[in-house]
Amino acid sequence: MRRAPDSTVTRTIAISNQKGGVGKTTTSVNLAAALARAGHPTLLVDLDPQGNASSGLGCARETIAFGIADALLGLEPLGRTIVPTAQPGLDLSPATRSLVGVEVELVGMANREHRLSLALAGLEKHYRYVLLDCPPSLGLITINALTAADSVLVPLQAEYYAMEGLGELIRSIGAVRRSANPRLVREGIVLTMHDARTNLCRDVEAQARAVFGTEVFTTVIPRSVRLAEASSHAKTIFEYEANGRGATAYSALGAELTARVAALRGRSVAAG
Ligand SMILES: Nc1ncnc2c1ncn2[C@@H]1O[C@H](COP(=O)(O)OP(=O)(O)OP(=O)(O)O)[C@@H](O)[C@H]1O
Ligand SMILES: [Mg+2]
Repeated sequence: MRRAPDSTVTRTIAISNQKGGVGKTTTSVNLAAALARAGHPTLLVDLDPQGNASSGLGCARETIAFGIADALLGLEPLGRTIVPTAQPGLDLSPATRSLVGVEVELVGMANREHRLSLALAGLEKHYRYVLLDCPPSLGLITINALTAADSVLVPLQAEYYAMEGLGELIRSIGAVRRSANPRLVREGIVLTMHDARTNLCRDVEAQARAVFGTEVFTTVIPRSVRLAEASSHAKTIFEYEANGRGATAYSALGAELTARVAALRGRSVAAG
């Protein structure tokens, strides 16, 4: 864990889409690595019981003493779950097998939607970005992420019915904003597994940009088998193929996100 400069304002971003397999984890891992490489101390919290972000960053379940489940249940401070990764500047709070049962246990607990937010309190100052890799559901773990976050980044796979579930996600974001977390905003939508040669991809992109305008990031993540291979080798794309299309796209996404966040901060300083 390292201390960021005093002027740091941490941005906590939930990476969420209840649709499975749309690139949430691939985006969480490689965007987090891109931000760390650009000099921003970053923490990735693996909130998915499948633990793909943890294994993708080379953190084997057998070696984990404590995980995010222990922090959510109040058994260990979140700080004790944090491990460094091979990428300097990127730390991980890993998922453990016990995360599977956490949702059930949380139901009966006080402050059940605020457990992550409370667990992160005080830790955020060490990081400029905290990314929350959400499971493919809108259950209590995702609600905890939305309650702890400043914003939601939505990976959208360019395929048929891609936009179908977005209404439900947007309603959940609105519901959390009205109840537990009034500061929550939409960070934007990032198109993933994009293949500009197919009509389908071009159609989905055009439709997303027509409906959501500048909320859709200019950067699109191409379909690249290298991205899938990298995680199966427990590496970020920067370790696996530093000069390929995947690494270039995630670097560009990091730069675009950083510029958006800097513009927001500039506006809030001006307003204050
Ligand atoms: N840009 C890409 N090009 C090719 N394959 C990709 C790309 N992004 C992700 N994949 C692959 O697609 C699969 C799903 O991606 P990923 O695990 O990131 O999605 P997810 O939304 O986190 O899934 P889940 O909902 O199960 O958590 C994985 O096998 C991953 O390696
Ligand atoms: Mg995932």
